[in-house]
Amino acid sequence: MKDKSIELLEKIAASKQGGGEKRIEAQHKKGKLTARERIDVLLDEGSFEEIGGLVTHRSTNFGLDKTKFLGDGVITGYGTINNRLIYVYSQDFTVLGGSLAEAHAQKICNIMDLAMKNGAPIIGLNDSGGARIQEGVVSLGGYADIFYRNTLASGVVPQLSAILGPCAGGAVYSPALTDFILMTKNTSYMFVTGPNVVKTVTNEEVTAEELGGAETHMMKSGVTHFACENELETLNHLKKILSYIPQNCEEKVEHLPYQFNNEDRKDLDDIIPENPNHPYDIKSVINGLIDQDSFLEIQENFAENIVIGFARIAGRSIGIIANQPAVLAGVLDVNASVKGARFVRFCDAFNIPLLVLEDVPGFLPGTDQEWNGIISNGAKLLFAFSEATVPRITVITRKAYGGAYDVMNSKHIGADMNFAWPSAEIAVMGAKGAAEIIFKKEIAGAADPKAKWEEKEKEYAELFANPYNAAARGYIDEVILPHKTREKLIKAFKMTENKKVNLPKKKHSNIPL
Ligand code: HXC
Repeated sequence: MKDKSIELLEKIAASKQGGGEKRIEAQHKKGKLTARERIDVLLDEGSFEEIGGLVTHRSTNFGLDKTKFLGDGVITGYGTINNRLIYVYSQDFTVLGGSLAEAHAQKICNIMDLAMKNGAPIIGLNDSGGARIQEGVVSLGGYADIFYRNTLASGVVPQLSAILGPCAGGAVYSPALTDFILMTKNTSYMFVTGPNVVKTVTNEEVTAEELGGAETHMMKSGVTHFACENELETLNHLKKILSYIPQNCEEKVEHLPYQFNNEDRKDLDDIIPENPNHPYDIKSVINGLIDQDSFLEIQENFAENIVIGFARIAGRSIGIIANQPAVLAGVLDVNASVKGARFVRFCDAFNIPLLVLEDVPGFLPGTDQEWNGIISNGAKLLFAFSEATVPRITVITRKAYGGAYDVMNSKHIGADMNFAWPSAEIAVMGAKGAAEIIFKKEIAGAADPKAKWEEKEKEYAELFANPYNAAARGYIDEVILPHKTREKLIKAFKMTENKKVNLPKKKHSNIPL
């Protein structure tokens, strides 16, 4: 028995060595942690239980039978983060470049299946050269097995992907199917085809970082939700996200203990500028309403005209969607609509109540927007809100114009409580444009057309640039003073916490993708 035990211990030790000292050193030299070090940082100390540490590939192609590593380039298992069960896989770049083939894929699928059966989040730490070239089609099959599970798990258990090295070719589609992607600046990249293929096909010269680095995917494509400075920040962000979301779609997030106090926030009274055309930062409103330092912004540098993120209010986890008047006047465009819609879908899938802060002059006009499908993309946001059954509360801080009024979680599409500040302007369009259209003849025929226009603009503004017409029809439940908003929200979220809505029976809806 003693010999047998030694044999086992030797195998475990070999499995833990990954691709060996030299390759580990090379990994560290690039500023990267190893697959096991990442798991150590991510999970509660000593909580990791490995599954499949002795798995090897079965390929004999191109001498692979002589290049076998226990574990086959991916470490899989389960553990806890803040005492919550989590399933994790961590690709080991030191073993055949973390490349994926049959056995590697089977290990990932196994923990995905366990996560589904046991209702717990899945975290993927990606660092891989892609499909293992020597193994051929089984690599492609392995990817597809994972994609299929990602899709089935979507909306059942949260799925988080950290990109900590290369992620190229079809490999990008597993992270893309998950709920959140986090990338590390300078050491990770994602693209369907790399710089060499790009050069051959389009003659563009581009570096890997420019083509698919963290900042590119944060600022240009919106593919990543977080661009982190380094691996430690990335791993800590994963833990932070988990603190706002439940284990699965049947659970709610636990409330943090909260002691009720005087909830007045006087600073909020001074945020809206006197001139309705002047900008202000919606994040100062967000921070005035939520529990201190609880805002976790998502896609911070993409479509900045809409702000999304998790926060807490009286210890309760919520999702915030807010127009940002400081960027493009807070207008809704293609990117802002898609960014908002996907976040609404996530929160609704995982029972996270929604708070909407509205200051929107409308949808962005122009050929660029029309030709890029502002109609179907704007409809995504409308659809996502309309279908969401979680508690939904809106506060109109200033402008709520045109179709954007309807889209931004109006009562008509199922919001539970709609508040407006006295500075709210709820109308079909701004007074200037409205006066020009409905008083066109009168203005043209006037002795002083400019003065007439101004007179009519004032007349329209007095009638509509306020919250009271909407309140008179019950479209607004209450007009409130800004400093009272936090208290109103705390009560309204509590009042709606047991909300139940059954959507009409159907196979599934058909969101305008
Ligand atoms: C097998 C691979 C590999 C791969 C890397 N390695 N990628 N082995 N299959 N796909 C091995 C290398 O041979 C090397 O082995 C070790 O990993 C480290 O690789 P290096 O090239 O030395 O590292 P580096 O210079 O950092 O470059 C990393 C890299 C490069 C940019 C990822 O290795 C690379 O371009 N790899 C190929 C990428 C690729 O074309 N993948 C297929 C994409 S198509 P040793 O023994 O020397 O340590 C795809 C389709 C999926 O993925 C479709 C799904 C639907």
